[in-house]
Formats: sequence, structure tokens, C-alpha cells
Amino acid sequence: MIKKGIILAGGMGTRMSPLTKAVNKHLLPIYDKPLIFYPLSILMLAKIREILIIVNKGQLNQYKKIIPNGDNLGIKITFKEQKKPVGLPDAFILGEKFIGKSNTALILGDNFFYGQNLTKILNQCCKLTSGAKVLLHKVSKPELYGVAKVNSKNKIISIKEKPKKYISDLAITGLYFFDNKVIKYSKSLKPSKRGEIEITDLLNKYKSKKKLTADYIGRGGAWLDTGSIEDFYKTSTFVSAIENRQGFKIACLEEISLLNNWINKKHILKAIKFYGNCSYSNYLKKLISK
Ligand code: G1P
Repeated sequence: MIKKGIILAGGMGTRMSPLTKAVNKHLLPIYDKPLIFYPLSILMLAKIREILIIVNKGQLNQYKKIIPNGDNLGIKITFKEQKKPVGLPDAFILGEKFIGKSNTALILGDNFFYGQNLTKILNQCCKLTSGAKVLLHKVSKPELYGVAKVNSKNKIISIKEKPKKYISDLAITGLYFFDNKVIKYSKSLKPSKRGEIEITDLLNKYKSKKKLTADYIGRGGAWLDTGSIEDFYKTSTFVSAIENRQGFKIACLEEISLLNNWINKKHILKAIKFYGNCSYSNYLKKLISK
């Protein structure tokens, strides 16, 4: 079972400068909430309550203003600063103490997931006891992502990072599930040509030991990443369309905690006071007035 999760929210966000000069990218808005709420909500939907957030050096205080330690959500959040981004598997090296002897999930801080069956898929993935699992999603531009080729028995037969030549249209999304060997394997990785240790090399280690499995976010689900300003707008429009049509909020952290029975009405009242007079608070008020 996976009960721990890491959110990798490091990096300078240079592609989004000047927006990211004073504020970390993961605290910028996707419609009505900071980006970081979305990956955090995914771990919470997976019933993961012990969470490590890896942030860029010098920007910890910004995060603590909005997510102090998780007490308000009935979860435990710890932070770790990353001096410089040296590749995604660094999360497991920096997170060694946090992971301890457990298995762990990893979600990239700029990945957005949404869909009817998502919670079911997440709970299924968290049943992992050994090996690694990735979530695949069909995309029209696979060359932008890590890509997996799968055979007719749904087995991953090859994995490539941003392949120039087409191998498959199944992108490896930024949500991964690993057993405890991930620490050892990550430490053994050598930097690639671009000078970083690569998640695809880590996954290939599991694959070569026949320990890599895949699940799918079907066509009814959405996976978006927010690497550029354009992506921020597109994702915001998506969230706004759904929230305003249905009256439900996506990634309302307190709502997820309440539904998981991790917090009660008192916590919600405290949250309303904390956020102040805003539409997010009005939504929280409605939750407890039912
Ligand atoms: C990273 C990974 C890639 C994965 C993607 C998901 O790419 O290297 O394998 O498909 O995240 O968002 P990056 O966003 O760092 O280019």
C-alpha cells in the first residue's frame, strides 16, 4: 500500500518570467486557486496523508503562508528545499528520510488531472506493494513527453523521453507509484546528455526487471500540464468551465478532507476565517450548511 507521496515543485519557472521573479510558479493561479492545490488534491484523493513538498531554495516561506503543515486538512505536510533542479528522480534522493522504508507516490507540481474515474484509478494504483506503476494518457503531441510503447497484452515494451521519432502516442503522465527500491535506483542513475537524471531511466530500471506496470486515464479523463503561460490559461479555462457549470470546485482541499472524514465542521470554519471573504470561502460555507 502507498501511504506517502511527494510533490516535486522545484525549479525556477524561468519560462514564465517575469511572473515567476517574485512568486513561485506553483503558487500562481489556475483559475481560482494556486497551482499547487491541484497536485495536492490528487494525492489526497488517493488517500495519501503523509506528503513531502519539494520546493525551490529560498521560496519555502511563500508556500508556508498558504499551506503551513497540513493540520488544517488532517494531513501531515513537510517541506524540503532543493538547491537546484537536477532531474525528477532527485525527489527520491532528497526525500530519502521522508520515505523511510515505505513505498511512495510522486506527482509533478505542474500536472493537472481530472476525471470521473480518477479516484478509483488512484486507489487501485496505491495498492502497489512492489515494482513501479505509471499512468498513461493518449496525447496528440507525444514528442513533448516521456512516452511508452505498450504491446497487445498491455505490457510496456519500451520507454523513451521526448522521442523525436514516433514510437507511440501514450504519454507517461507526471504521477508515478514506486516501491522502496526507488531510492537505491535513483542514486545509481547517471546524468543524461542534458545533464539531469531522468525519470525514464529510472522507469527503465524497473522495466528491465519486469517490475513496471501501467494504468490508463481513459478518454473521459483529462491530463494537462502547465509548463507555459499558454497552458496556465488553457487549464484555467477548463477549471472555470466545469466549476461554473456544475457548481462544484475542482481541488477544494478542505472538501476532500471533509469527505475523507479527516476534518470536521470546526476545521472548515477555521479555514473560512483564514481565507477571508472570497468565493472559495463561500463555497466552504455552503459545504457545512447542508
Ligand atoms: C517530465 C518527464 C516526462 C513526463 C512529463 C509529464 O517532463 O521528464 O517523462 O512525461 O514530465 O509532465 P518535463 O515536463 O520535465 O519536460
